[in-house]
Amino acid sequence: MSSPFSHANPHALASIVAASEAGGIEASEDIVDERGVKLWARGSPVLAGLVERLQDRSLRRPIEQCLTARDGIGPDGIVEETERLLQGSAYLSALAGSEARRLLRVAGSLPVEGSVSLLLTAARGRGTGFSHACLVMLAAGALAARCGCDEGSLQRTMLAALLHDIGEQYVNPTYLSSRRELTLDEWRHVSAHPRVGELFVRTNTRYPKPISALVAAHHERLDGTGYPGRAVSSELPDGSGYLIIAETMAGVLNDPVAAPARAVLAMGLVFGEFPIGIVNHVVRVQRAFPVEGATELDREAARERVVIVREGLRRSRLAAHALEDLTEHEAERRSLARLAPLLVRLEAAFVSTGTAHYFDLVEQSDDSDAELVLQLELVPREVRWRMRSLARDIAQDLCGFPAVGRERFTPLLDALRGAPAGAS
Ligand SMILES: [Fe+2]
Ligand SMILES: [Fe+2]
Repeated sequence: MSSPFSHANPHALASIVAASEAGGIEASEDIVDERGVKLWARGSPVLAGLVERLQDRSLRRPIEQCLTARDGIGPDGIVEETERLLQGSAYLSALAGSEARRLLRVAGSLPVEGSVSLLLTAARGRGTGFSHACLVMLAAGALAARCGCDEGSLQRTMLAALLHDIGEQYVNPTYLSSRRELTLDEWRHVSAHPRVGELFVRTNTRYPKPISALVAAHHERLDGTGYPGRAVSSELPDGSGYLIIAETMAGVLNDPVAAPARAVLAMGLVFGEFPIGIVNHVVRVQRAFPVEGATELDREAARERVVIVREGLRRSRLAAHALEDLTEHEAERRSLARLAPLLVRLEAAFVSTGTAHYFDLVEQSDDSDAELVLQLELVPREVRWRMRSLARDIAQDLCGFPAVGRERFTPLLDALRGAPAGAS
């Protein structure tokens, strides 16, 4: 029976080949196509020629199950990287707190199957993927431990967190590192990685179902604004909150300036996105880290950012409101019914931070107040990110609309994307 992995994925294969050049990856069994033709012999090292040999071939068994990374990533490598992360970050160290030893012990006991070792080894060669996997594993484990999880739940959380981005190995790496905004097709490709990761775990490992379900859920939000499933809290698997928050924290920690405060601001902005009980632990840890090093406030630039977001939200609200009377088509109505309350909540969240009208009310700001500077920089950015994400959501829905409906939604899409009125 054909599986999603019966054809070798070119991106995953490319990083496996690259990793093999640095250290031995070889066939642990013959690689055979569906008609029984041997394409690569057991024991042969993975070389560039494998790419051509596998092209357009449907395989009897996925390469993920036929290749092995000798000296690849295993429990020792995971513990080593996790220790390095703990030593390099006072914040992570505080997050782990008195549970650090336990977390390292569990990290070292995770059952790393061959296909996982193969892809983590490939991820390590491709960039920061392996370190990121360990960071999310550590943060998710720390949060789970703080919430009093038993040993079984802790192990499950950490294993799923370690695997959470394994689907990214199947994504075109130029999209992952792109600094420009992705096209809708490119975004679809990237945003499928939790689903691809879920399939990978189900097809290529013997891990129990909760692990693949957690991998699938790591970019979801409790209020349905996440991806790829737009799942709401009642649809998410137990324990997904640890991964969702750890993933968000990892994204914020990339920015060395005031990372702990950024994490709290990002998670506290829109009530209902993240599980509040776990966010409270993040807030508690952050209190030990005063906001320092926020860049100086460029008042005019900051004011401009605030006005762009405020105006974009206002136009979006008006455009959504106008659609309520114009739209009769079922798919359009469904899309609008989903979007309108999210938009209202986003605008309310923006206003409630005080950022939306800050420059109208405060003539002179105190540039030495690092927390304020950070908020004025970060809140508009976070709101804008959510507006773009809502725009992407609608853009995905458009294919179900009649042509006239696609046109009807253009002003709303433009407003959410921050395009000037009447741009398209
Ligand atoms: Fe991630
Ligand atoms: Fe991800």
